[in-house]
Amino acid sequence: MLKIVLLGAPGSGKGTQSAKLVEEYGVPQISTGDLLRHAVSEQTELGLEAKKAMDAGELVSDHIVVGMIRERLNEPDTANGFILDGFPRSLAQAEALDEMLAELGRPLQCVVHLRVDNEEIVQRLLSRGREDDNEQTIRNRQSVYQEQTEPLVAYYEKQGLLKPVAGVGTVDDIFSRIKTALNEA
Ligand code: AP5
Repeated sequence: MLKIVLLGAPGSGKGTQSAKLVEEYGVPQISTGDLLRHAVSEQTELGLEAKKAMDAGELVSDHIVVGMIRERLNEPDTANGFILDGFPRSLAQAEALDEMLAELGRPLQCVVHLRVDNEEIVQRLLSRGREDDNEQTIRNRQSVYQEQTEPLVAYYEKQGLLKPVAGVGTVDDIFSRIKTALNEA
């Protein structure tokens, strides 16, 4: 059973570490970025609405992502846990998540905060080259993170759920640090 949020700036390694956690703990990764990219590729109404915000590095509106997460958390494969990757990203989303999990009787175990410095992130993302990985969009994603998502660090610290983890070094080193943090939670 693992019920966690992976919190961290764009490019901090949330997706990379989620894949390893899925393998180790056998619970699904729920990434709002992946769900949104799927909606964009299927050209659904929601996808078309989300695309503009994603291309600009802005947040997609809370009602869209909260609706997606509500649907996903009601699927049976989440009964034994989940890894939330890239959600929540605003205080409104965090409050909505608390309410959803309280209704489901499945409160969060902890929030792993991957800490990586901004310049390292720009280098990582420029060498990946996803559609939203150009320098201007990356810088905007970083400032959106600082303004809208970073307040969640204090939000979860206050709830006693925050586990800071250094997100630099090799993927395996970081994964070991995450496992240690989870064992302490
Ligand atoms: P999303 O897909 O969540 O993107 P992101 O947060 O910008 O995160 P990334 O996928 O870029 O990075 P990551 O932290 O997962 O790192 P990764 O492991 O890939 O969101 C995209 C957009 O969707 C948002 O901008 C927004 O518009 C919208 N959106 C999504 N969720 C939303 C929400 N909740 N509310 C509103 N809007 C939302 O690693 C990055 C790179 O670094 C990879 O190439 C990887 O190989 C490399 N790397 C990883 N670890 C290491 C390491 N240790 N050393 C060297 N390189 C490494």
